[in-house]
Amino acid sequence: VHWTDAERHIIADLWGKINHDEIGGQALARLLIVYPWTQRYFSSFGNLSNAAAIIGNPKVAAHGKVVLGGLTKAVQNLDNIKGIYTQLSTLHSEKLHVDPSNFTLLGDTFTVTLAANFGPSVFTPEVHETWQKFLNVVVAALGKQYH
Ligand code: HEM
Repeated sequence: VHWTDAERHIIADLWGKINHDEIGGQALARLLIVYPWTQRYFSSFGNLSNAAAIIGNPKVAAHGKVVLGGLTKAVQNLDNIKGIYTQLSTLHSEKLHVDPSNFTLLGDTFTVTLAANFGPSVFTPEVHETWQKFLNVVVAALGKQYH
């Protein structure tokens, strides 16, 4: 994957602006609400019975931070996302048995979360386009160890 200087700048800039404590939890909560079948992977998280319970669930918030940490590694290693995600891909495939189509769904709820937090003045079409490219690389890398 080739990244232009403009794309690198957009991603670094966006990552500098997000609330690292909250965005991941918001995106994960949105995944569990909008695509409820994804809850099957989080049966140890306690009460996921409705939207308010999911949004207020501390385990969802905490795991959202973990996922965000995973994305931060990708942001910091744009030229080697496949490499740094090898272990994470193996974990999701062989241990967690997460259907890889769910990576795209979480990517989408991240996009909606960013758009909702920033609005059109920050999350412009240009930023959205670069962010989508980044997500595509992340999703492909996380799916790499599935066979
Ligand atoms: C665990 C990242 C998507 C289900 C993890 C961990 C990370 C991570 C960093 C912790 C790994 C460790 O403990 O070493 C990501 C990223 C994703 C993604 C970056 C995509 C952007 C998903 C999706 C699902 C999922 C879509 C299911 C719908 C899980 C589960 C765990 C986990 C069940 C273990 C949770 C626990 O019990 O602690 N993920 N993940 N992940 N992930 Fe993902």
